[in-house]
Amino acid sequence: MQDNEIAELMEAKRRAGAVERKDEAWAREANREMWERWHERPASERGPDHDVLALFRQVPKGSHVLEYGAGAGRHAIPLAKAGLKVLAVDREPLAIKKARELGREVEGLHAIVGDALHPPLADGKQFGAVLSTQMLHVLREEEREPFLQELKRRVEPGGHLVLEFDADHQWIQLPRDWKPLKTGREGIVEVLRHPETRLLEVEGRAPISSEEMQEKLEALFPYREWRLSVKSAPRFHAGRGGASVAMRMLVHATRRKEKV
Ligand SMILES: C[S@@+](CC[C@H](N)C(=O)[O-])C[C@H]1O[C@@H](n2cnc3c(N)ncnc32)[C@H](O)[C@@H]1O
Repeated sequence: MQDNEIAELMEAKRRAGAVERKDEAWAREANREMWERWHERPASERGPDHDVLALFRQVPKGSHVLEYGAGAGRHAIPLAKAGLKVLAVDREPLAIKKARELGREVEGLHAIVGDALHPPLADGKQFGAVLSTQMLHVLREEEREPFLQELKRRVEPGGHLVLEFDADHQWIQLPRDWKPLKTGREGIVEVLRHPETRLLEVEGRAPISSEEMQEKLEALFPYREWRLSVKSAPRFHAGRGGASVAMRMLVHATRRKEKV
């Protein structure tokens, strides 16, 4: 997976039985809590991902963009400010409320509550660009393939798909006395070494394997119809609410106008 020391520490936790299983209701509640906490956090804590924004420089101004799982508009707002017409969709009403508040003076932003798996859009509707960040890995296993198909079918010929997610993702329950003094790799190693730390697994939400995903993406976006680029890099995060370790994958697929 990522870096040997981290992978070994996680394996040691598993062998020691330091794994706690959580159910779907727990995951839903955690999501709601996340959005409630969002209201208390300064916006500066959640800036956009600049690698994601950089890919949109290739998208012509005035293009229509669909974002699924848009959250509070971390990317939808700067993209609309840059001259794109963004439809931000999220199934969490609190997130959409926040996106509307933060983006109230931004022209070109339209934020609606909706479920990507029951799309709130006409069947043949397509966009110049489609975006999803930090969402694929929060879906249940059986939802991932239909979600990828939905993203793909919404891209018009010549259009772009930007997809970012965490593969090999693992939640970590922080020890009670943990103070987030260190972040990044150092913080994760310290947390994992702590005897009270447990790994959290949500039933039905098996981590996405980065190796399998690479193969899947190549099959899903065949060369004749798509240009595909996949970049991956380890990601470590330790914050107030918890910690996670993952392989971050950034996918850019461009639909060719004609088959080659
Ligand atoms: C971890 S957040 C990421 C938010 C945002 N994309 C970002 O990068 O900051 C995942 C988001 O996906 C949303 N989500 C999960 N399943 C969804 C679905 N089936 N349809 C629409 N949104 C969904 C959640 O409500 C949440 O806002």
